[in-house]
Amino acid sequence: MKVTAIGTGYVGLVTGACLAEMGNHVVCLDVNPEKIRILNEGEIPIHEPGLLEIVRRNVAAGRLQFTTDVDLAVQHGTLLFIGVGTPPGEDGSADLQYVLAAARSIGQRMSDYKVIVDKSTVPVGTADRVRAAIAEELAKRGVEIAYAVVSNPEFLKEGAAVEDFMKPDRIIVGSDDEQATLLMRALYAPFNRTQDRMMVMDLRSAEFTKYAANAMLATRISFMNELALLAERVGADIEWVRRGIGSDPRIGFQFLYAGAGYGGSCFPKDVKALIRIGREHGQALHVLNAVEAANERQKRVLVDKIVARFGEDLRGKRFALWGLAFKPNTDDMREAPALVIVEELLRRGAEVAAYDPVAMDEARRLLGAAPGLSFCERAEAALLGAQALVLVTEWKEFRTPDFERIKLELTQPVIFDGRNLYDPALMKALGIEHHGIGRGQG
Ligand code: NAD
Ligand code: UDX
Repeated sequence: MKVTAIGTGYVGLVTGACLAEMGNHVVCLDVNPEKIRILNEGEIPIHEPGLLEIVRRNVAAGRLQFTTDVDLAVQHGTLLFIGVGTPPGEDGSADLQYVLAAARSIGQRMSDYKVIVDKSTVPVGTADRVRAAIAEELAKRGVEIAYAVVSNPEFLKEGAAVEDFMKPDRIIVGSDDEQATLLMRALYAPFNRTQDRMMVMDLRSAEFTKYAANAMLATRISFMNELALLAERVGADIEWVRRGIGSDPRIGFQFLYAGAGYGGSCFPKDVKALIRIGREHGQALHVLNAVEAANERQKRVLVDKIVARFGEDLRGKRFALWGLAFKPNTDDMREAPALVIVEELLRRGAEVAAYDPVAMDEARRLLGAAPGLSFCERAEAALLGAQALVLVTEWKEFRTPDFERIKLELTQPVIFDGRNLYDPALMKALGIEHHGIGRGQG
């Protein structure tokens, strides 16, 4: 089939590449010429495991191309996926300007039947607005061309985006158009071979499902984070509690890890947007308000622990910080807890020597040349002369470091472990002062 992916970010590029991998002919469009230049040079503008290989293979096979040419992109696809950003506006609501601009550019150029697929995360009712924007453009041109708008929210996780897209738990399609539904079924058939994972529902339920999923996951994490804080006070270990409750199949093990707070381009913004949708419809979402407040506090928990240990005035103190990305296997730093932690430490006069396996360029871009902040090319280099190690992101290479080296390089063997990566008993045996999250026994 002929597919166009509008927006070549995490979602648009993964969608375009994975659909090409299944034999479709895909054109990926972006308004950012720099991204398209990088893609046309055979590289990818983001770090996402497995993606580069798929992109190169499909470009070589002639099934995948990248362009800034809107005419070409709109003419090419029968299915046009909109995967542009929906960042939070000032009031927390999803800013739809990019989605609606994409819709308009389709309406201004289309000349035959199109299925416009909303893949971006958008508030309930957006499909109607996309439909109306296209109708308006067609009316301006004085033409009548049939088209359908469907909702197909994306559930991929960064760092595992290709795998998630290739092996989806479910494929949600919101549609009220039979022909469009058939095309979506045909497109997704290769992803559906062992079991039919496609759920076709009404448009509003599909749009709502995406926010509900992210809000549910964010709620689990914030609740575990609060339980962790209490575990510290009552002398319990949240890691044992996690295993104890996760073994109940009604609860399950996934997304129960207490830590330094959730970040990323989705949970924070989607929680905000759903709260806002609730407000607009006169429905207070008390639980979700608490989830957001709890996460704001959680991002500061490591700093609170550092201050409790070293005092409010951190001038003359140096900290090694491991992990800048909001989670492992990505270079994305949107809403990363590390941003808050670095800022709070610097504000108190500390020096921070930071290291991340892939997010250093992004960190330099976001944090710039802040006085007191330095970036190290190797994890060990950050340790030299630091009072303590602060672990923010659980990259694999941090799992079993050379603890003797850590002890040697730090001025004091202190670790603030924001992802409960290290066993408190081992730390004790090694003579390392270990501050985890919710490790009341540690
Ligand atoms: P992103 O910021 O990485 O990429 C968006 C891209 O769209 C940018 O490259 C931008 O230049 C481009 N763009 C903007 N307007 C355009 C236009 N009119 N025409 C062509 N290109 C245009 O965003 P993302 O992280 O991929 O997220 C996209 C959407 O998918 C959001 O709604 C997000 O909530 C949702 N989502 C994201 C993830 C994720 O893990 N990142 C997962 C599921 C859903
Ligand atoms: C999330 C959703 O998981 C995905 O389905 C959706 O499509 C986009 O948003 P993503 O933001 O890429 O994906 O990463 P995710 O793995 O969900 O992690 C989000 C944040 O939660 C990270 O900061 C992570 O560290 C944190 N987290 C996750 C925890 O603190 N504890 C956990 O148990 C799991």
